[in-house]
Amino acid sequence: MKTLVIGAGNMGLTYAEGMAQSAMLNRRNLMIFDKSADVIARLRDLDHFDVYESLEECLPKADMVFIAVKPYHCDDLFEEMQPMVNQEQIFVSLMAGVTIAKIQEGLAVKKVVRSMPNLPAQVGKGVTSYTESSEVSRVELLMVRNLLDTTGKSIHVESENYIDASTGISGSGPAYVFYFMNSMLEAALKMGFSKNDSKVLVSQTFEGAVELFNQNDLSPDTWMNRVASKGGTTRAALDSMDDNNVKELIKDAAYAAFDRAVELGEEKK
Ligand SMILES: NC(=O)c1ccc[n+]([C@@H]2O[C@H](COP(=O)([O-])OP(=O)(O)OC[C@H]3O[C@@H](n4cnc5c(N)ncnc54)[C@H](OP(=O)(O)O)[C@@H]3O)[C@@H](O)[C@H]2O)c1
Repeated sequence: MKTLVIGAGNMGLTYAEGMAQSAMLNRRNLMIFDKSADVIARLRDLDHFDVYESLEECLPKADMVFIAVKPYHCDDLFEEMQPMVNQEQIFVSLMAGVTIAKIQEGLAVKKVVRSMPNLPAQVGKGVTSYTESSEVSRVELLMVRNLLDTTGKSIHVESENYIDASTGISGSGPAYVFYFMNSMLEAALKMGFSKNDSKVLVSQTFEGAVELFNQNDLSPDTWMNRVASKGGTTRAALDSMDDNNVKELIKDAAYAAFDRAVELGEEKK
């Protein structure tokens, strides 16, 4: 199965690198195309994929096409692609806010998978949600899933509404975690720790907490109560967060991202 990645930026290159490790593909079957001459030169130096400078040479040969350009580039790209596509090809979009209907219309095709990846895909710890048009078969969807899983884990969702919702949780989510980390780093520095020690204290705390959470079925509340004792230090911190409504504010933030994803989708119709 020949796979083409269009757009070799953060996401496109991450997925191409992940898929290059897949048993389903081998180097000869993985093509990559970008319009920037600098990017093409860097890809050639990397020597991991078959690099193409023109769509005419690679798009007609592809069975599956991953689209990883910025959403505002999609109209121009679709116009260029349309004369070269065929109805058997499967198009997997990584673009935020671009609906399946828009991709079907822009390319005049039927088989489309829309996905929402996230940045930790760069270290093989990404999570991608995905959904498909009715014309994509179960077998084809399984092939797509296998490729998405090369960058971490994936979840299948029933409708595009959940793609927008997952933007608010996992797509934008790494930034919420960095926001929390930043606050703790600032507090550690203020308490007098060196930059390096602050980084170790914070990153190891996050890594350890996630590891504990993943090891069994205990809820975050249960873990919080294991750290906190009545009248103790952790309880003082958690009470301070509750008094300031931090939990509700974080939920509001996730909904703000969800609402913005829906809004962007409407704007691009
Ligand atoms: N980064 C994230 O964390 C993240 C998370 C979720 C979803 N996404 C989605 O992933 C997609 C890609 O984002 P990104 O951060 O990887 O963007 P990026 O780093 O800007 O990469 C896009 C690449 O595509 C190239 N390109 C633009 N138009 C093209 C065309 N017509 N044909 C071929 N190549 C073209 C760009 O070249 P130029 O630079 O010369 O324009 C650039 O090299 C976006 O749609 C975004 O919504 C990203």
